[in-house]
Amino acid sequence: MAASDAPALEARGLTKRFGRRGLFGGGAPVTAVDRVTLGVSRGETLGIVGESGSGKSTIARMMVGLLAPDEGEVALAGAEIDVRSHKGRKVLRHRVQFVFQDPAGAFNPRRTIGEAIEAPLIGLLGRPRAERRERVAELLEQVGLRPDHAARFPHAFSGGQLQRVGIARALAAEPGIVALDEPVSALDVSVQAQILALLRKLREERGLTMIFVSHDLAVVEALCDRVAVMRRGRIIEEGPCREVLSKPCEGYTRALLDAARGVAA
Ligand SMILES: Nc1ncnc2c1ncn2[C@@H]1O[C@H](COP(=O)(O)OP(=O)(O)O)[C@@H](O)[C@H]1O
Ligand SMILES: [Mg+2]
Repeated sequence: MAASDAPALEARGLTKRFGRRGLFGGGAPVTAVDRVTLGVSRGETLGIVGESGSGKSTIARMMVGLLAPDEGEVALAGAEIDVRSHKGRKVLRHRVQFVFQDPAGAFNPRRTIGEAIEAPLIGLLGRPRAERRERVAELLEQVGLRPDHAARFPHAFSGGQLQRVGIARALAAEPGIVALDEPVSALDVSVQAQILALLRKLREERGLTMIFVSHDLAVVEALCDRVAVMRRGRIIEEGPCREVLSKPCEGYTRALLDAARGVAA
């Protein structure tokens, strides 16, 4: 496949097993992700949905280089990355940024948020100091915060504001691809809508490719082009968002939809 036709990011047969949690450990391992192949095209937003424990976070973490798979490969624009090596995962972590679910836990409480956003500018991009300060101010404005917020510590921010900071930090690395793991689940509904609007704006401005993990089908429907439905570590259904969510083939997907509507009603 020519590199230009290749997915921006692709999981090829990824598998991850975990030892059982709990007092006695041992026992049969849990296969959190079971031979999953999944690609996202350039400029596309892919949703990954499924009930809690279905493997969404695990597949996302493997696709961004935060977690080594037991089996399978990850390819970036058609080029395979050695994700079993520390070095390969580091390359991936630079090119594909990750936004965490819990904004409060994603920041070092002893560092200003300016320092947090600046870290990738130093570590990954090696930008000089004066340029960094300017860039931090620019990034804060792009996510709807003020440049003078840079001097504040995480505790001074609300959850929604901190999630904006998380997005600014992800963008600082100038990634082409951003993966977000339940980025609005911890937020109030009105704040969720603001963050989703921000993601839409940034996607338009930057042509970002996005992977959006969520158990909330309404949120996925509002943002994603395509959706993959996970159950017990596997993808059981995949396709254009509108099609899958309007006429799901699988009973499991229908049940997820019914549950979402039940909550909304
Ligand atoms: N670090 C871990 N250690 C042991 N088991 C884990 C770990 N992370 C995830 N799991 C297990 O793997 C499965 C998938 O988890 P996860 O990917 O977090 O699902 P989801 O994000 O869809 O809720 C679950 O059974 C979960 O308990
Ligand atoms: Mg999860």
